[in-house]
Amino acid sequence: MKNITVLGATGSIGDSTLSVVALHPDKFNIFALSAHTNWQKMQTLCEKFQPKFVVMTDESAAEALSKVVSNNTEVLHGAEALNTIAAHDKTDYVMAAIVGSAGMASSLAGAKAGKRIMLASKESLVLAGDLFMQTVRDNNAELIPVDSEHSAIFQCLQSGKSGLSKIQLTASGGPFLYTPQKKLCAVTPDEACAHPNWSMGQKISTDSATMMNKGLEVIEAHYLFGLPAEKIDVVVHPQSIVHSSVYYADGSTLSQLGNPDMRSVISYALSYPNRIASGVEPLDLTNNPPLEFYAPDLDKFACLRQAFDALKQGGNAMGTLNAANEVAVEHFLNNKISFLDITKVIQHTLDTVQHTDISSLEAIIANDTTARETARAIIKKYA
Ligand SMILES: NC(=O)c1ccc[n+]([C@@H]2O[C@H](COP(=O)([O-])OP(=O)(O)OC[C@H]3O[C@@H](n4cnc5c(N)ncnc54)[C@H](OP(=O)(O)O)[C@@H]3O)[C@@H](O)[C@H]2O)c1
Repeated sequence: MKNITVLGATGSIGDSTLSVVALHPDKFNIFALSAHTNWQKMQTLCEKFQPKFVVMTDESAAEALSKVVSNNTEVLHGAEALNTIAAHDKTDYVMAAIVGSAGMASSLAGAKAGKRIMLASKESLVLAGDLFMQTVRDNNAELIPVDSEHSAIFQCLQSGKSGLSKIQLTASGGPFLYTPQKKLCAVTPDEACAHPNWSMGQKISTDSATMMNKGLEVIEAHYLFGLPAEKIDVVVHPQSIVHSSVYYADGSTLSQLGNPDMRSVISYALSYPNRIASGVEPLDLTNNPPLEFYAPDLDKFACLRQAFDALKQGGNAMGTLNAANEVAVEHFLNNKISFLDITKVIQHTLDTVQHTDISSLEAIIANDTTARETARAIIKKYA
């Protein structure tokens, strides 16, 4: 029996994780859960899973929840408490699914404590990739990707990297793949969040619409698989059936396929190196539309190019890119800037924040703060 701690339990990845766990009560026990403000949904989760600990990072949400949960569940609050449950002696596996940079410290705390980290929160690697990977190695933690593309590559690379020539991440192209570039200035948050294949939280949905999500995934892949930008390729595949591919020197290509449902990825992370049922329907290749593949348009989806450039630049550029993107997406979702302003805010922030090499957690956090302040100041000029 493995004790699972789910960070970001009330989100889309949290939902999928809990639904896979519920299929296997003989294998997994929910030990701890976290959320930010949504105490009402957490109350329902507590009734169903009876965790030992719950963390609400928002204090008033924790107060409201503690009045309604049973005495068997201890309610904690604050960001520090996330580290406590991630690193707790009784936690075996940590699902790191807090959206944005808010998930970084707790993912790191779990890695430091030598846990199996099932990493959905790609921003942790984008911000602190070198430090994160070093912490995983130093503490014999296990790092299992929970992104469909990286899980696909992780699965394809099970026999090693010998003869590997490149990896190729597939991208659905998001809701605006076929929208003419000149019409993008008027698209709304609702339209940006209406992903054709995947059901996800608002931030990652917007990132998919700008293709920044793919850009963050390129950086994530660089750290997870130890490959330079030149060996990481992106192909647009609107059906989201081929989740990613690995190319070898002998002309062979290995791909992983499946219906677009994160429960497959999550069940693999939970059961690795074995496989268990996830509740996902098997693929029916005879009953699918034709599979299409295109090169991405880096002018229309400039965020993808910006992410490649930041990776090549190294140092603080990736953290600056991530911070500017989080601020810009938040303002777009609140109707404060237009969809096309997102890429402009990111570029302006990258051009303004001084480029440095950083390695310590303190420097990473300081750069994140500076980049956010810079992005906000830039947005004020747009308003
Ligand atoms: N959704 C997918 O299919 C998918 C696929 C691959 C990777 N990912 C990655 O997985 C992560 C989660 O995505 P999601 O779609 O599940 O997001 P989501 O639905 O927006 O859920 C986010 C979760 O994080 C919590 N949270 C938000 N802000 C927080 C803060 N400041 N401090 C602590 N907790 C906070 C939320 O709590 P409240 O509910 O209380 O706000 C919620 O539990 C992201 O990094 C995303 O890129 C997602």
